[in-house]
Amino acid sequence: MRTSFTVSKTVPATAAVVAIPVASDGPVPKEVGLTRAQLTAMGFEGKCCTTMPIAPAPGSKSARVLVGIGAVKDINEATMRNIGAAAARACAKHGSMATTLAGVSRLNKRAAAKVFVEGAALALHRWVNLKNDKSSLPALTKITLVGDSTDTKAGVAEGVAVATAVCTARDHANTPPSHLTATKFAKEAVAIAKKSGLKVTVYDKKQLETMGCGGIVGVNAGSVEPPRVVKLVWAPAGATNKVVLVGKGVMYDSGGISLKPSDAGHASMKMDMSGAAAVLGAMSTLKALKVKTHVTAYLMCTDNLPSGSAMKLGDVLTFRNGKTAEIHNTDAEGRLILADGLSLGAEGKPDAMVDIATLTGACMGALGKKMAGVLGNNQGVVDQLLASSGRTDELLWQLPLFQDYRALLDSNVADMKNVGGPYGGAITASLFLNEFTGGIPWAHLDIAGPMESDSDNGWLNRGATAFGTRLLVDFVVNFKKPVKAPKK
Ligand code: BES
Ligand code: MN
Ligand code: ZN
Repeated sequence: MRTSFTVSKTVPATAAVVAIPVASDGPVPKEVGLTRAQLTAMGFEGKCCTTMPIAPAPGSKSARVLVGIGAVKDINEATMRNIGAAAARACAKHGSMATTLAGVSRLNKRAAAKVFVEGAALALHRWVNLKNDKSSLPALTKITLVGDSTDTKAGVAEGVAVATAVCTARDHANTPPSHLTATKFAKEAVAIAKKSGLKVTVYDKKQLETMGCGGIVGVNAGSVEPPRVVKLVWAPAGATNKVVLVGKGVMYDSGGISLKPSDAGHASMKMDMSGAAAVLGAMSTLKALKVKTHVTAYLMCTDNLPSGSAMKLGDVLTFRNGKTAEIHNTDAEGRLILADGLSLGAEGKPDAMVDIATLTGACMGALGKKMAGVLGNNQGVVDQLLASSGRTDELLWQLPLFQDYRALLDSNVADMKNVGGPYGGAITASLFLNEFTGGIPWAHLDIAGPMESDSDNGWLNRGATAFGTRLLVDFVVNFKKPVKAPKK
């Protein structure tokens, strides 16, 4: 993350630009030097996230930008995050910005500073590593929040930890597949783990074979690049709750023998590791956020490629938990690697498991690109994720784990097929995953839709979104043992 944040009691005279909050009602701040009627005549009504540059104050060198905040009583965490993004975008061409914006709401100062930082940092993030012309990078790299020091500083530190994680996850997902192989991604995960106080173990192909992880080994069979499973553990002293996170890390999904057509969708399959990137990002924040829950993560990393050695249609794979599946479409590979990940996770008998995966075009077809699907065997876990969705503004919509459709996966030769036919694809994929949860309370996030943004908007920019990183952080921060018994 390129943006640095500091806290100051007053507006520093050195700030290149000052972002000034203006509500849609009530008095206009005196320092603006304009009346409400004048602002209205200039076309600025103070609506949330609208912005307008005005001349520097007399005797000052700092540029000034008015930032609309709407009605103060309406500001919640989502709007404050959007305000941070709007202010950062409007001030992007200046090297440094100072603002009192994070202090204007009724939110507590710590939460307001945290989400303001998230919004600003994410709006300013770009991935230009492979561009010779870096001119699309915003000049703005220094932001000063003016406010009460203790709470604001704590919120800024939390926001920086979370935003750094999201930016890193976006960088990983944007990186082309030959630049970020499973081996390299695992190395990055080790480096991040060391910095973030996590225990880390990397399993290679031979070990995965020995461990009986036939799913990831099967998906990897057509690939020259070997697979990696990365296990990360956050083990705080005195933890009483235990959570497992599993991320789909398909570094490149060509479809395998069931080859995808060469279209834009195929070209975005470098992002098929977005689930693993989000999990790694979330894990990187737990120390900074002093999370009390024990968290174990599995990043399931491999390519999915066709070749003479590739897994074939009609092949049967045996997974870590001993179950078998007949392959009817090699492009339904995500569930095969998650099967091993969930099996490994269940062995630790956690209180809950969550997997996150760019799993099905069907989910994207149902819900579009602005929200992920959530399905699970335990409403308590799903409800906690829905609550996190509300707090993080990463939108989720629950789909049913409808047991009647389990019959669509029936196979003549194995415990199940890996596809359930043309309809209800997000549900049949989840029913497949449910076979590997060992009855542990579990929910699945299908992020195929929101993995990529087509536009620069608010705290999103074109390219990989790292959707789910903030959601997973919020989930583990607020985790409680689910009370409801698993659904039968
Ligand atoms: N990685 C894809 C799903 C995907 C599609 C993610 C679009 C992001 C955007 C997944 O591995 C896949 O290919 N799924 C198939 C499953 C089908 C063969 C049952 C799909 O959705 O078409
Ligand atoms: Mn696929
Ligand atoms: Zn895939």
